[in-house]
Amino acid sequence: MTENRYTDERYKRFFHTYDGDILKDFIAQHASKNKPDEVLDAMQKFSDTEQYMMHLPLEHGVILDEIVRTHKSARVLEIGGYCGYSAVRIARFLECGGTLTSMEKSKDSAPLMQWVTEYAGVSECVTIINKDAKVGIKDLRGVYDMVLLDHHKLHYQRDTEALLTRGLLADGCVIMADNVSRPNAKPFVDWALSHPQFERMPESVEDFLVVRYCA
Ligand SMILES: C[S@@+](CC[C@H](N)C(=O)[O-])C[C@H]1O[C@@H](n2cnc3c(N)ncnc32)[C@H](O)[C@@H]1O
Repeated sequence: MTENRYTDERYKRFFHTYDGDILKDFIAQHASKNKPDEVLDAMQKFSDTEQYMMHLPLEHGVILDEIVRTHKSARVLEIGGYCGYSAVRIARFLECGGTLTSMEKSKDSAPLMQWVTEYAGVSECVTIINKDAKVGIKDLRGVYDMVLLDHHKLHYQRDTEALLTRGLLADGCVIMADNVSRPNAKPFVDWALSHPQFERMPESVEDFLVVRYCA
C-alpha cells in the first residue's frame, strides 16, 4: 500500500489531547518562551517525529500567514482550535489591537491551547471559547474580518450560514477553509462557490479554499 498520512507509522501514533503534558514537555524542551515561531517549529517537529497531530499543514499555514499580513485583519475568528497551532500562526501577525477568537469544542484541547498560546506569548490577543460552534456562534457579537474554518467538514456550510444570518461577517471578510478536497467538504465547496456573495480568491489551492464575502 502507498504510504500516506493514514498508513504511516506516525498516524498510528495519533496524538490525543488528553495526553497534553507530552506535547507541553516537548515544546518546553524545543522552543523558548515567547518565541511563537520556535513554538510552531516545535509542534511540527512533535508531529513529524513523535505523535501525529491534525494541525494546519505548513503549505496552508504559509498561505494563512500571507493573508493575515496582507489584509491587516483586526478581528479573526477560527473554528477548530485544537492545540493552538493555527492560533499562534494567526496571532503572531495580528495588527496592534487585533484579536483572535478561537472556538474549540473539546474539553481537553481548550486548556492545552491556552497553555500553548501563553507559552508562545500571544495569549493576550486570543480568546478561546470552549464550545461547539453550533452553540458558540450564537454568543458572538460584532463583525469578523477573517474566518478560518478548520473543524468538522460537514459543518462548514452550517456554521458559515449561521455567521451570515447573524450578520457576523464584515464586508470583504476573507473566509479560509482547510481540507476542502475531502469528500465530506464537497457540499460546502459547491455551496460557497455558487453563492452570489462569495468570490473565490487566487490564494486558493486544491485543499485550502479562500473566498471573500461581499455584503
Ligand atoms: C483539524 S483540528 C484544528 C486544527 C487547528 N486549526 C490547528 O491548525 O492547530 C479540528 C478541531 O476542531 C474541533 N471541532 C470539531 N467540530 C467542532 C465544532 N463543531 N465546534 C468547535 N470545534 C470543533 C475538534 O475538536 C478539533 O480540535
